[in-house]
Amino acid sequence: MFETSKPLKGIQSTVQSQTKTAYINDVPFTLIPGETILSFVRRSLGENLVPTLCDAPNLDPFGSCRVCSVDVALVQNGNSKAMASCHTPVTEGSYIYPNSKRIQKLRKNIIELVLTDHPLDCLTCEVNNNCELQSVAAQVGVRDVRYPEGKNHLNRKKDLSHPYMTSDLSKCINCFRCVRACDEVQGQFVLSMAGRGFDSHIIKGSDQSFFESDCVSCGACAQACPTSAISDVFESKSIAVQQKTRTVCTYCGVGCNLEVSTVDGEIKSIQAPYNAEVNGGHTCLKGRYAFKF
Ligand code: SF4
Ligand code: SF4
Ligand code: SF4
Ligand code: FES
Repeated sequence: MFETSKPLKGIQSTVQSQTKTAYINDVPFTLIPGETILSFVRRSLGENLVPTLCDAPNLDPFGSCRVCSVDVALVQNGNSKAMASCHTPVTEGSYIYPNSKRIQKLRKNIIELVLTDHPLDCLTCEVNNNCELQSVAAQVGVRDVRYPEGKNHLNRKKDLSHPYMTSDLSKCINCFRCVRACDEVQGQFVLSMAGRGFDSHIIKGSDQSFFESDCVSCGACAQACPTSAISDVFESKSIAVQQKTRTVCTYCGVGCNLEVSTVDGEIKSIQAPYNAEVNGGHTCLKGRYAFKF
């Protein structure tokens, strides 16, 4: 009879030879083949070590903001290169330095440049204290902006034409998350980026208002937007709520998980939690916005 508690010699050596490692701050960690550097670092050392802006849990990696950059070298103490971790696969045996001095400086400079074209009115903003730009700016140590005021887009008009969706594109940071949410999650293809370089800007349909566009009010873009640039009439991302309750939508048999925010027992807004197997951070117009009926 074989001893079942010990693996057979041949099997053990096969398992060992299949284990792949890469190094974070010179410490080896086991990698999962095909995963990105960002998932590798987060899985090994926690969610908050590397900041991100254009990345979102339910969207494909995109690589536009570069805030997630980390230093990567192929040999220990070798020449390193700053790489966007959210869309770069981790290489076996590579040496990753997520928070080197150079990377910290790079991230801070990126956010400072973003803020040269962003209204600095957080205290009166709908998403104050629940804003990814605000928290990333704090995480990378931005206290003020060193650059003088230049050409900007701060006077863009708000679009309040729609019964559910709103936009204030003076707060847009061109991360493409709303475009990708509408394409990848809802499949409605309403939003796109028009113009080039400094003139790049989000449009709805063929540069229409939210109301005139083919928007089906699913709210995926509002949930994906890291600032208040796209939101909804219920101000769902505002923190002015007393309680959040996880529940299941009763409108149809899909059974979307919902997170319901209430104030004095009255529903203020509904979001779709990312960690729900059935709907993974998305729901339809009825699940998200039809709570007044
Ligand atoms: S969107 Fe965020 S960073 Fe911009 S003003 Fe509002 S809270 Fe501040
Ligand atoms: S609410 Fe839904 S359909 Fe409308 S623009 Fe946003 S993601 Fe697209
Ligand atoms: S509207 Fe929001 S999600 Fe869309 S590009 Fe601008 S900041 Fe990103
Ligand atoms: S989060 Fe990686 S490039 Fe934006």
